[in-house]
Amino acid sequence: ANRAVNRISIERQVLQIFGAGLTPADIAELVEAAEVVSVPAGEVVVEEGADDKDIYIVRVGSMVVEKDLGGKPVFLSYLPAGSYFGEMAVIDGSKRSASVRAAIKSEVIRFPGEMFNALLDAKPDIRTRALKDMAARREINDFV
Ligand code: CMP
Repeated sequence: ANRAVNRISIERQVLQIFGAGLTPADIAELVEAAEVVSVPAGEVVVEEGADDKDIYIVRVGSMVVEKDLGGKPVFLSYLPAGSYFGEMAVIDGSKRSASVRAAIKSEVIRFPGEMFNALLDAKPDIRTRALKDMAARREINDFV
């Protein structure tokens, strides 16, 4: 029963974020690969400088994005439920640009980065949207 509830919720989140041009088969594939992870308050999900490549959606709770500047954590952004993160390392093949940790007890949905990459290759609309979002995030980080 729990798994059924999760599936509906994951589908909804995936549709909300990457809706444009996803077929039922695409969605089924994403849901199949998705893993729901519980994150205690304060726990780091993505660590600045690491070279893992998964991508996440905040399912429940919220995240704080921070970057180390001269040994001090500097606040970059707040990610409410429904936001995604971890796309930059996947798109650029770079290391994690910032740390993302749970602001409160949360749940994230984790997808394999290769899957996101394949999706971007197959769906120009999703690529455009992701690149636009990434540019906006970069602008904040360059300003800080
Ligand atoms: P990535 O670099 O893979 O890992 C850290 C993630 O934090 C990054 O991808 C983005 O998803 C996210 N991130 C970085 N900077 C910002 C920002 N200014 N606003 C929101 N999210 C950000």
